[in-house]
Amino acid sequence: PPLYIITPTYKRAEQLAELTRFAHTLMLVPNVSWLVIEDAFEKSPLVAKLLDKTGLRYEHLTAPMPEEYKNKKSGPKPRGVSNRNKGIQWVRANAVDGVLYFADDDNTYDLELFHEIRYTKRVSMFPVGLVTKLGVSSPIVKNGIFSGFYDGWIAGRKFPVDMAGFAISVKFLLQRPNATMPYKPGYEEDGFLKSLTPFEPKEIELLASNCSKILVWHTQTKRNDPSTTLDLTKYGSTNIEILKK
Ligand code: UGA
Ligand code: MN
Repeated sequence: PPLYIITPTYKRAEQLAELTRFAHTLMLVPNVSWLVIEDAFEKSPLVAKLLDKTGLRYEHLTAPMPEEYKNKKSGPKPRGVSNRNKGIQWVRANAVDGVLYFADDDNTYDLELFHEIRYTKRVSMFPVGLVTKLGVSSPIVKNGIFSGFYDGWIAGRKFPVDMAGFAISVKFLLQRPNATMPYKPGYEEDGFLKSLTPFEPKEIELLASNCSKILVWHTQTKRNDPSTTLDLTKYGSTNIEILKK
């Protein structure tokens, strides 16, 4: 069965580095379609060129964050939500089977993860490393049976899990035409998983050897914002493409 990997991305100095690293992981995975969705009004030519170079089967789409959230003065923003909903929409229109996974552009993925999730029948879950101060977010498994969630921020969530900690069957999604991700910072995963009703935590398929292995890490790249706008053309250089802020 095919894997549909939905990756939200946005323009910043680290973008091409993150996408290059993740592309190189996906180039080692058979039968994948990579849906790369930019939080932007127009496709970046640099991203387009990168995607083309990989030889992967991909879709390059855009889905800007709605202005009302983008212009918010304070507090967290619903990062990657418009992008993921656009990806879901694409899957509904183009896929008939297989498995969908939300893979942020900056995480680190073990190739084994893609073997594990490929046979998801409904919704599968597994540990994610380097999330919150607890260092891991995971379903708790006792004697092979689901018995709750371990997460540094439960916050009244029915599904206190990270975006990278679950995969879902396309057939299962298609049977739920109303499933969508809410613009609700901190509650995107919970809201999406709740929208898959009917679906209860006890039905989760436990992967990664009963959730005993970490196959994905929520890594975060240190920001490197050049304080002045880089412009090598000023020095006569024409041979380097630079992401201008
Ligand atoms: C955490 C969670 O792990 C994410 O799954 C969740 O989406 C996010 O918080 C959130 O909702 O705020 P974190 O590392 O803090 O992740 O967030 P980012 O990696 O900065 O962003 C998540 C994804 O959205 C990335 O793929 C990023 O490229 C994309 N993004 C971020 C946008 O498309 N637009 C933005 O303005 C910011
Ligand atoms: Mn991240």
